[in-house]
Amino acid sequence: MAIIIDGKAIASEIKEEVKQEVEKLEQKYGKKPALAVILVGNNPASEVYVRNKKKNSEEVGINSWQILLDEHTTQQELLTLIGQLNNDNNVNGILVQLPLPSHINENEIINAIDPVKDVDGFHPVNTGKLVIGEDCFIPCTPYGCQELIVRTMPDIKGKHIVIVGRSNIVGKPLANLMVQKNNRANCIVTVCHTATKDIGYYTRQADILVVAVGKANMITKDMVKKGAVVIDVGINRINDPENPGKTKLVGDVKFDEVYEVAHAITPVPGGVGPMTIAMLLKNTVKAFKLQNNIAINE
Ligand code: GUN
Repeated sequence: MAIIIDGKAIASEIKEEVKQEVEKLEQKYGKKPALAVILVGNNPASEVYVRNKKKNSEEVGINSWQILLDEHTTQQELLTLIGQLNNDNNVNGILVQLPLPSHINENEIINAIDPVKDVDGFHPVNTGKLVIGEDCFIPCTPYGCQELIVRTMPDIKGKHIVIVGRSNIVGKPLANLMVQKNNRANCIVTVCHTATKDIGYYTRQADILVVAVGKANMITKDMVKKGAVVIDVGINRINDPENPGKTKLVGDVKFDEVYEVAHAITPVPGGVGPMTIAMLLKNTVKAFKLQNNIAINE
C-alpha cells in the first residue's frame, strides 16, 4: 500500500513560506509582488484555474490582476496588452492562460512576454536556459512535480524517471529539469509519447513515473514497477459510475490499483494541482526580486 503524497499540504507549506517572504519584502521595500493573469474567452476549466490563481495570490499577499478578455479578442489587441504590462513597473509577473482560442498564435503571444516577467517559464529564453541548466523561471507544473519527487525520494541521483507525455507545458520541461546535474535532479530520463509502441515496456522500468497525457485511467497496475513513485498530472472529468448523472475528477493513473504496487502516489485532485499554483507564487516573488535587484536568497 502506497504513501499518498499530499500535494495540498505541501503546497500549503510553500504558500506559508511565500506569504512570510512577501511580508518581509513589503516591510523592507514598501511594495509587494504583483501578478497579472490574462484569460481570453470562457473555457470553463481555464476559468477555474484563473480564479484559483487569483485566490491563492491574494492569500499570500501578492497583488493580483485578473484580465478577462472576450473570446474574439484579436492577436494584435492581446500583443498590445502584453506590451503595456511589460512596461508597467507595478506588474512583476505576466501569465497568459492556455489554451488560447484557435485564431490566436500561441507562440507569438508567449514570445511577446518579457522573459523577466515570464512566471510560466514558457518564453524561449527561459526554455533555453532550462535546457542548459542556467537559472530561469521553471514552468510551474514540472517545478511542482520536482518538488513532490524530491520530498518523497530524497536521493534521486541516477534514478530512472519515465515521463509519459511530451507537452511544452509539462513533459518536455520536466525532462529537461530532471536530466540536469544537481541534487534535485541527476536522473536518467525517458520520455514516452504518441509514437511509443509499448508504453508499458518503458513505464515498468520507472523508479519515478510521471504521467501527463490527459487520458483518464490510462496507467494500470501492470504498467508500474513495485516501489515506484507515481506522479499523476492528469485532470480528467468523467461520468461517475457510482453516482449516475454526476461527474468526478480522475487522473491519468488508475489510482485504486496502482496504489497497491507503488511506494508513493499523488491523488487527483489534491496532488500536483495545488503545487502548480504554489510554484507560480514562488516564481512571482522571484520575478519581483529580479526586477528590483534583490538577491534571490534574500
Ligand atoms: N494551461 C494549463 N497549464 C497551464 C500553465 O501552467 N500555465 C498557463 N499559462 N496555462 C496553462
